[in-house]
Amino acid sequence: MRVLITAGPTREYLDDVRYLSNSSSGRMGYAVAESLIAAGHEVVLVSGPVEIPIPSGCKIHQVETTSEMRDACVNHFPNCDGVIAAAAVCDYKPRERIQGKIAKTGDGISIEMIETDDVLAELGRTKDQRWVVGFALEAENQRANALQKLRAKNCDVVVLNSPTAIGSDTNQVELIDRNGDVVAEWSGSKQDVADRLVQWTLQNLG
Ligand code: CTP
Repeated sequence: MRVLITAGPTREYLDDVRYLSNSSSGRMGYAVAESLIAAGHEVVLVSGPVEIPIPSGCKIHQVETTSEMRDACVNHFPNCDGVIAAAAVCDYKPRERIQGKIAKTGDGISIEMIETDDVLAELGRTKDQRWVVGFALEAENQRANALQKLRAKNCDVVVLNSPTAIGSDTNQVELIDRNGDVVAEWSGSKQDVADRLVQWTLQNLG
């Protein structure tokens, strides 16, 4: 099987030297890549900027912005059997990227923000016979919000986790299906959780 994985944060530039991003380490997506490779599958890893080693044996596409992540995913998804979207994608970007460097004005400034592309939603819309595993990072009404995301992005299942997962070595997740049922619960190191997720995905979707 060939699987597309998104991992890490994206960056949205205000000018040529400043950007908005988040503290995603990329560990969850990279651990999923390691598990799939260990199980003998091909991985296309579309990754935002992270500081962890690239799993050996995967095809890597390093991107910075959400739009670059979207383009790489849209390119590769048709040749994959499914996608596991672990990236912590920026939801907003400045309406325009200023060339050079914004200078100090001696006063506050406002920056108009617009929504970025929803990479997973686009893959979900175009999935045909391919399977789609999303992640949902929820601070409140966790199961209800995760189910709403699953439906909005046309996922087969969604991995529900909480903001404490960002930047951590461990994770605690619930796997939610299209009926809203919690079909699995795993906790432990991100590698342990990734191994269980890959095993479940291969058995149930692959
Ligand atoms: N995702 C994506 N592109 C975006 C935003 C999110 O591909 N622009 C993907 C993430 O990789 C994840 C899923 O969508 O698999 C849900 O991401 P999450 O951050 O939990 O939700 P959002 O859709 O960003 O919604 P909100 O921030 O309002 O919770």
